[in-house]
Amino acid sequence: MKLQSARVLSHQQLYRDTFLMWLSCPPVARGASPGRFLMIHCAQGYDPLLPRPMSFHRFRETDGQRQFAILYDVRGRGTAWLSERQPGEGLTVFGPLGKGYAVSRDAQNLLLVAGGLGVAAVIALAEEATGRGKAVTLLQGARTASKLYPPKELPKAVEVLSATDDGSAGHQGPVTDLLADHLPWADQVFACGPNAMFRSMSQVLREARTRKPVQALLEERMGCGTGVCYGCAVFARRGVKLVCRDGPRFELRDVYPY
Ligand SMILES: Cc1cc2nc3c(=O)[nH]c(=O)nc-3n(C[C@H](O)[C@H](O)[C@H](O)COP(=O)(O)OP(=O)(O)OC[C@H]3O[C@@H](n4cnc5c(N)ncnc54)[C@H](O)[C@@H]3O)c2cc1C
Ligand code: FES
Repeated sequence: MKLQSARVLSHQQLYRDTFLMWLSCPPVARGASPGRFLMIHCAQGYDPLLPRPMSFHRFRETDGQRQFAILYDVRGRGTAWLSERQPGEGLTVFGPLGKGYAVSRDAQNLLLVAGGLGVAAVIALAEEATGRGKAVTLLQGARTASKLYPPKELPKAVEVLSATDDGSAGHQGPVTDLLADHLPWADQVFACGPNAMFRSMSQVLREARTRKPVQALLEERMGCGTGVCYGCAVFARRGVKLVCRDGPRFELRDVYPY
């Protein structure tokens, strides 16, 4: 995979501890789509050595050029370094990588389920789908109200229902509490969030006695992003799979059976 240079176009703290960075890198933007990801070297030299995976958060066309954004929280050294980058600076990146979300042509009602910063990976899907006239409902969960993705940043056509652990906005409890009511409406379900959310989703689906397919974007720590190091292996129904190469999009029931 060829390394590319991406230029930082803008960079802001969008909401509490969460940064939005727009980037220009035509070779990476070209094949990018919702649910796919890129790897970003988060260092001036070689420390930290390993690049960090980030989902494509949004896309836009400016002066005939496709640009993309990432949305991230500062977690450790890599993302702390990233948070200090200024517009005009260059980043070493490679991608696009992995298998993204696949929307069927006949699906009209799309249900998106996002836990925590999993919302980063579903916004581009919401934008593309509403642009094609599909109905989109987003179930969004966070620890507290200030960690919810700001509704004003979402396409107006998207219906948003929120859940917070502390009850400061929307339903008090896990976002998966909202799932059962929306399942009958949905033609397709797309999810991104922590493994605990996927476990809870599979339980809701089991209780609802449905085999409805759910596309889940899994997150594992990644070393190479290209299927070489086996650092991102997960046990799935048909054996060991690599999140970077075979995913990150998996059928939920292949990893969390229901
Ligand atoms: C396909 C994919 C897409 C991702 N997209 C995004 C995104 O859009 N926005 C975003 O903020 N983050 C995303 N992540 C997670 C992101 O890559 C990590 O937060 C980042 O690598 C942390 O780097 P760091 O050097 O700051 O922290 P580190 O020092 O490497 O780790 C800090 C903490 O984060 C945890 N962590 C590190 N990597 C992961 C991971 N992959 N999953 C869960 N916990 C992890 C560690 O266990 C540790 O507790 C994605 C991960 C994957 C695999
Ligand atoms: S990150 Fe190396 S094999 Fe997936």
